[in-house]
Amino acid sequence: HRLVILISGRGSNMKAILEAVKKKEIPHTRVVGVISDNPDAEGLTIARRYGVRALYLSAAPYKTKLEGPAEEVYIRTIKRMKPDLIVLAGFMRVVKPRFIQSFPNKIINIHPSLLPAYPGLHTHERVLAAGEKESGCTVHFVNEKVDGGKRIIQARVQVLPGDTPQTLAARVLEKEHKILPYAIRLLLEKKISYDSLVEPIQWGEE
Ligand code: GRF
Repeated sequence: HRLVILISGRGSNMKAILEAVKKKEIPHTRVVGVISDNPDAEGLTIARRYGVRALYLSAAPYKTKLEGPAEEVYIRTIKRMKPDLIVLAGFMRVVKPRFIQSFPNKIINIHPSLLPAYPGLHTHERVLAAGEKESGCTVHFVNEKVDGGKRIIQARVQVLPGDTPQTLAARVLEKEHKILPYAIRLLLEKKISYDSLVEPIQWGEE
């Protein structure tokens, strides 16, 4: 199978995928491209260290979405890579219908909350401000609604007294690194599919 990963920064989720591929926890699979909308993304350096083709593709002039001529470049570049699955792993842009419809049911995203709760940015801040006792992360299919597509798998963590956005983010991130490679494996091995999913899988009860 062929994977394409889109990133914007640190790339720790991407790294978790590269490790899982390397250890054959995601069998018969190759990461055929990593694309970043940020030329300084640390993740680009990490990907190259794994021997993976890693490129910067500008998404200018927009700051928070992928649209216009840049969107066309993304679509064309990714199509040439012939991916079975496209993973948004900390890709900090909203993707639009033209992009989504170019790769039907092939785009997934990782989000650091228990969706449908807390879509969008600054999730940990909002979770703490609301006094939630629990948070977590979700892998979901990407559709036209931001963080609103069909959910694939979720992992839960406790919110602890004294948590800051940073400590909570770190606890959630550990789970992200587990559920994202696992979701990819299930999808590529066709253990689950867009149509077969009803409720998201709960990590720890799989
Ligand atoms: C993660 O928390 C992910 O859920 C969110 O952005 C962050 C990316 O981190 N969408 P990294 O680049 O994978 O380290």
